[in-house]
Amino acid sequence: MEENRIVLITGAKGGLGSFVTEAFLAAGDTVIGTSKSIRTSDFANPRFVAMAADLTDAASTRQLVDSVMQRFQRIDVLVHVMGGFSGGKPVEETDDATWDRMMNLNLRSGFHILRAVIPAMRAAGSGRIVAIASRAAVEPAAGIAAYGASKAALVSLIKSAALENKDRGITVNAILPGTMNTDANRKADPAADFSRWAPPEHVADLAVFLSSEAASQITGAAIPVYGKEA
Ligand SMILES: NC(=O)c1ccc[n+]([C@@H]2O[C@H](COP(=O)([O-])OP(=O)(O)OC[C@H]3O[C@@H](n4cnc5c(N)ncnc54)[C@H](OP(=O)(O)O)[C@@H]3O)[C@@H](O)[C@H]2O)c1
Repeated sequence: MEENRIVLITGAKGGLGSFVTEAFLAAGDTVIGTSKSIRTSDFANPRFVAMAADLTDAASTRQLVDSVMQRFQRIDVLVHVMGGFSGGKPVEETDDATWDRMMNLNLRSGFHILRAVIPAMRAAGSGRIVAIASRAAVEPAAGIAAYGASKAALVSLIKSAALENKDRGITVNAILPGTMNTDANRKADPAADFSRWAPPEHVADLAVFLSSEAASQITGAAIPVYGKEA
């Protein structure tokens, strides 16, 4: 594996993102972690650098990528973790705010960050992009139409980007977690059997693998990590 890779991780201190950040730091990479409120002190590692941005905003996203390029001159790996969840109502009761929130957090942010990062990777002639979608992208469920549609569209975006960038040695893949064993999920559903949920550290390990030389021939994939749930 290439030494001292520059890895940009979105949603880097969230329930899953903190495992992804720790996994890339453990692999010896330099990690630029981004979210709206992130700080360098969030991870006690000299190879961690925080750069705050709102990825639902195109200008903020471009500024983030410009700052990374100015400081590090390249982005070897992008792991796009950030996203959000709203749901609980059928389609006919879903309001505009919920629809827009899901599209902005889960789809528009992905469009913004891919659009900003891909030119630098194409210029370098290499790169790895991994996006966290969801099981709901391929298995829609009742009551989560806006979330499911936004994640399905994210997978579509990833597959187009994979086809467009094969010529430059860039791989672009999606991971589809089922419900994960995060602090927030344990608090939201304390009676659940947590052992059935997908371990976030395994999702993080898959992101590290998809970013490796060994995964150089895998692109356009959407890989399920469902845990033990049916
Ligand atoms: N949790 C699950 O069971 C589950 C299952 C399937 C898929 N997923 C997906 O996995 C990913 C991570 O989920 P999670 O549970 O770790 O979520 P989380 O704990 O809510 O973390 C979300 C992260 O995104 C950042 N963020 C939110 N809005 C942002 C914005 N506008 N611009 C930049 N950063 C923003 C947040 O930090 P700030 O507040 O500082 O911005 C936070 O770091 C999401 O894409 C989610 O849809 C989760």
